[in-house]
Amino acid sequence: SEQSTATSRIKNTDDGISMQHEYQDIIVSEISGGVLTITLNRPEAYNALRTQLLSELATVLQQAAADDEVRAVVVTGSEKVFAAGADIKEMAALDAVGVLNDPRVLHWRTIAQFPKPLIAAVNGFALGGGCELVMHADIVIAGDNAQFGQPEINLGIIPGAGGTQRLIRTVGKSMAMQLVLSGEFISATQARDFGLVSEVTIPERTLERATELARKIATKPPIAVRQAKEVLLKAYETTLDSGLSLERKAFTLLAATEDRNEGIAAFMEKRKPNFTGK
Ligand code: HXC
Repeated sequence: SEQSTATSRIKNTDDGISMQHEYQDIIVSEISGGVLTITLNRPEAYNALRTQLLSELATVLQQAAADDEVRAVVVTGSEKVFAAGADIKEMAALDAVGVLNDPRVLHWRTIAQFPKPLIAAVNGFALGGGCELVMHADIVIAGDNAQFGQPEINLGIIPGAGGTQRLIRTVGKSMAMQLVLSGEFISATQARDFGLVSEVTIPERTLERATELARKIATKPPIAVRQAKEVLLKAYETTLDSGLSLERKAFTLLAATEDRNEGIAAFMEKRKPNFTGK
């Protein structure tokens, strides 16, 4: 039985009217310091990523992408579980054509295309699709109780939300093969050593540290932040030469922004910059 209760986010719009959004599988915070926090909230199923959850996540990220107030997003789970993967019970009902037409593919694409910084705060299990969601984040902070794995092989399947491709680019061939072929989990510190995670902390501080970073990023000039994310991610899929060319073009584009002039002027005048996002 589904125990998760519908949760809501109240947002004050320009005309003063409160808009309420109902979510079943996630909790969406108020925007605070430019940061929106999304908490995966299906405790009864270890935050398994059923279609409903992914759809809500994709919807919120799409809104966050269009909302100038949101400068960075933190995604987190509970103290025990980030996400235990695709919902195996839901998956069991799909045949090959069902898998082919699975709407979750589109939700994953929306998550992958989120243009602003996405920071994952991971405690406990991040398995299968949960580990793949972690790899959709730009920065990953993990509690020392976190465990990462791609146990799909035990179900007669393979990672299906980018795990084979993102894992090998993130942790290298040998560890990617080890995780995907054996289904074994790795610890937070191993994940950090292999570049899947940038920092490990005590579980009580995981969300706080991720939020601290997100808030810091939220104070940076937003056009430069977006360009940096876009160009960095291109390194995954392009040659050094075309990546460097894209970097040069983005670098040149930024020379046309007011925030670049402001940043340089503030440095020269030994004062804090006042970025406007222009
Ligand atoms: C649906 C899940 C689930 C999942 C856990 N649960 N993982 N339900 N889908 N992925 C449910 C269990 O059925 C159980 O509910 C409750 O959560 C607690 O799980 P337990 O197994 O009782 O807990 P525990 O013994 O602590 O073991 C935790 C665990 C184990 C190691 C995380 O649950 C586990 O191995 N889960 C599956 C992990 C996995 O194989 N992930 C990959 C999925 S495939 P009930 O009501 O039954 O008691 C995948 C493909 C990605 O992700 C493709 C993307 C497109």
